[in-house]
Amino acid sequence: MCGIVGAVGAELDLVSIFEGLRRLEYRGYDSAGVAIIHHGELEVAKASVARESMGVLADWLTAQPFTTGQVMVGHTRWPTHGAPTLANTHPHLDCTGDIAVVHNGIIENFRELRQALLERGHVFRSETDSEVIAHLLEEALRDGGRPADALGAVFSQLIGHMSIVVALRSYPGLLLGVRRTSPLLAASNAQQSFFASDAPAFLSLADQFYEVPEEVVVVLGEGVEGDGGVALATLEPLAIEWSSQDAVLDGFASYYEMELHQSPEAFYDTVSALMTLDHEAVVDQLLIDSYELRRVRKVVIIGCGTSYHAGLVGRYLVEHLARIPVEVDVASEYRYRDPILDADTLVVGISQSGESLETITALRECMASGARTIAITNVIGSQLSRVADAVLYTRAGPEISVASTKTHLAQIGALGMLAIYLGELKGVLYPEESKRRRQELLAMTELLRMTVQRQESWRAGMAEYLHRERFFFIGRNLLYPVAMEGALKMKELSYIAAEAYPAGELKHGPIAMLDEQAVVVALLGKDRLHEKMLSNLEEVRARGAKLVVVAVDGDTSPTDLADTILRVPQSDALWSPLLMVLPLQVLAGWMAQIRGYDLDKPRNLAKTVTVE
Ligand code: M6R
Repeated sequence: MCGIVGAVGAELDLVSIFEGLRRLEYRGYDSAGVAIIHHGELEVAKASVARESMGVLADWLTAQPFTTGQVMVGHTRWPTHGAPTLANTHPHLDCTGDIAVVHNGIIENFRELRQALLERGHVFRSETDSEVIAHLLEEALRDGGRPADALGAVFSQLIGHMSIVVALRSYPGLLLGVRRTSPLLAASNAQQSFFASDAPAFLSLADQFYEVPEEVVVVLGEGVEGDGGVALATLEPLAIEWSSQDAVLDGFASYYEMELHQSPEAFYDTVSALMTLDHEAVVDQLLIDSYELRRVRKVVIIGCGTSYHAGLVGRYLVEHLARIPVEVDVASEYRYRDPILDADTLVVGISQSGESLETITALRECMASGARTIAITNVIGSQLSRVADAVLYTRAGPEISVASTKTHLAQIGALGMLAIYLGELKGVLYPEESKRRRQELLAMTELLRMTVQRQESWRAGMAEYLHRERFFFIGRNLLYPVAMEGALKMKELSYIAAEAYPAGELKHGPIAMLDEQAVVVALLGKDRLHEKMLSNLEEVRARGAKLVVVAVDGDTSPTDLADTILRVPQSDALWSPLLMVLPLQVLAGWMAQIRGYDLDKPRNLAKTVTVE
């Protein structure tokens, strides 16, 4: 949440650094700002035109007489304290105007700190918690202390999870960074060094990335040895597998459309990395001993949003393939449930970004109760990957659009592989059976490719629902989480009221909402609940609601019931969530497009949520 960049070095090309900031826009886009040190001057520019701020800043930058600088820090904001106004936009300055601070996270004790600073005569220009950092640093540097020591002393007063980057006019060759839980990477090329919240910012500029350890001040720049803090050379290098091309729009109008299109490859890369050519499990990523996994008596899956929905699909997969009871919860709830865990519980934390604070903190608490933990994440070296005992990486490449698509499919792929492996260890699946299941899962790639090609046919069928305002998504068994994901996509992209229900639950209340204006999107699998689902469709039909059915090829049973049928290929019912979610993703995106909404930057949202 909020994107931070910083760069230091001789003759920084400011436009390239700014492009780095632009690549972090998915982290927040309500306002944005930069501070630049050039020829000894500290220049600050800000814009708070929701979703257009980067464009305004880019125009400002190109209009400047200078094109290079010694230091640049930048920030793109998802507001926590204070509305998205210019005053609340980062960077924040101290009273002298010499210290520029960008901050991501929340300072929980900022009220006390701010009050004390006000009493000591500081003047605040914003309502943010972040501004206290600049004023505290002003005091800490006043006595001539070294910059890194001063930032270290300030940081130790701040309560909460955050990352901070600081530029100082009096030290134009230096850049300081520090973090607690929130992400911050360092990076470098031969002449310059960088900080960024996430690697895509500098994939095209840096040739080496490093982990910024927690709680220590990292100092970048020339001759930093005498300045306290930790220098780049001492940091642990990070292996980043993404290339700068991965984050480039490839002829698509939006990242959402591009990433939806990339789903089959994201799924294939994830699943194939977890098996040999002979369909045996590859478990070197799973650092938990197989003896311990055999002992597992309960699996808990936690995540937020789309990752939570993947976890719900995972429940059916693990219970069916490994016969282990599974609990699934949203991370923000699980943590406060006083959950019952022991050493025989396996906790799986799912997070595309590996940064969702609620998932990280919940996983940490599970570990404290003695449970073993696995992270499923898309970001190598992310916080979640470091916290957990073991990691299964999804290999979807960078996902820029705020609304997740390809990573959801990759998460289900990783969960499928985990379920098969647990089934094998538990003796529920014979070795030949588990190999067959892996083969079957990998073969879903081809069906995904075929399904993604059907977008135009789905669109044609949906034209008459474009102006409807009430959608219900229904499914049974492992298609119920798919209904939930469909409703989430509809809400976040099209801002249309959409609810999801298990189809059998409709008659226990929600059916009262159905009339001619409502649209019900029903997921009709070719599974043991097919007949029951058909009865639910009859109930909907009888209330006059419009009925859109997602059905597999060749299933003629909904023909007389549905107003529209969206077809997906036939597959084993166990893997059908992978295919059935695609028309729902396309539908939500299309509704948003028709209504003129930004597909990549839905209002009020950010891609990574690093606050509770
Ligand atoms: O990075 P995470 O997977 O932990 O993010 C969790 C949710 O914020 C996320 O899945 C969100 O619901 C989706 N981007 C919505 O499409």
